[in-house]
Amino acid sequence: MADIPDLIGYLNGRFAPLAELQVPVLDRGFLFGDGVYEMIPVYGRQPFRLAEHLRRLQSSLDAIRIPAPHTAAEWSDIIHTLIARQDFADQSLYLQVTRGPAYPRNHAFPAEVTPTVLLFADPLLPPAPALLEQGIAAVTQADIRWLRCNIKAISLLANVLAKQYATDENVAETILLRDGLLIEGSASNIFIVHDGVILAPPPSHLMLTGITYDLIIELAGQHGLPLSVREIGEAELRAADEVWLTSSGKEILAIVELDGQPVGKGVPGPIYQAMHAHYRSFKNDVMRQGKDQ
Ligand code: PDD
Repeated sequence: MADIPDLIGYLNGRFAPLAELQVPVLDRGFLFGDGVYEMIPVYGRQPFRLAEHLRRLQSSLDAIRIPAPHTAAEWSDIIHTLIARQDFADQSLYLQVTRGPAYPRNHAFPAEVTPTVLLFADPLLPPAPALLEQGIAAVTQADIRWLRCNIKAISLLANVLAKQYATDENVAETILLRDGLLIEGSASNIFIVHDGVILAPPPSHLMLTGITYDLIIELAGQHGLPLSVREIGEAELRAADEVWLTSSGKEILAIVELDGQPVGKGVPGPIYQAMHAHYRSFKNDVMRQGKDQ
């Protein structure tokens, strides 16, 4: 394994270098993937839409019946302390809650168990300029995940295999299709543009509604870019003028090649350029200033 970087993390009440933090082998996160997580982007030490991330965390915890280990105010304290302890201002903050350690190993929930809470922050680097200018390539695959993809669960085996498929194919992302419909990427949401209209698949139990997804829809509204939230068929995806990927880490990227075929003209399209400019301004004027948490 690569060396663990010299970063301060948080485990169950203790701030310490990541390499010193350890969880018991009987933790149900390790044995069953029994837990949930969030990835919160932090710009200029300001966590972006913390309240929304904490709301999504709470709904994931409720869905898998883990009692909330902290109130929103406690989470905010832990998160701000962790942010302050890093050497870098732009951070990708990872937060994970598992059901906790239990013996004997048993699929059913143990009667008494204390959730394990882990946080750490990595430097958050914006996508390389070449990616913004040239766009990225993607492939498609059948979505073999379960029917509760709206839960941000740490059990990500199908997502891991989908992303590895992209890596093996030398592309950046795998777009998942279920029953002939566009769902999302292995670790991102997907938008398309058709005849000047931005199309977004509707939130459902089959996809994770990104905080970035919500922001893109808001920005389209604010700047008068036509947008419709509706189901998108595979044929529409393949005939799209533009395809975009969004996530907290990747921001918004144009997919210019899909399954080896060019998307539209094979370069980032005009509506992507417009949306990316709005996103960049929003990041600098609002996110970095902590005006929209
Ligand atoms: N993943 N859909 C899936 C399956 C995801 O894993 C992600 C993000 C998103 C976008 O959500 P957001 O805009 O809130 O980042 C959609 C994170 C970044 C991860 O797993 O690391």
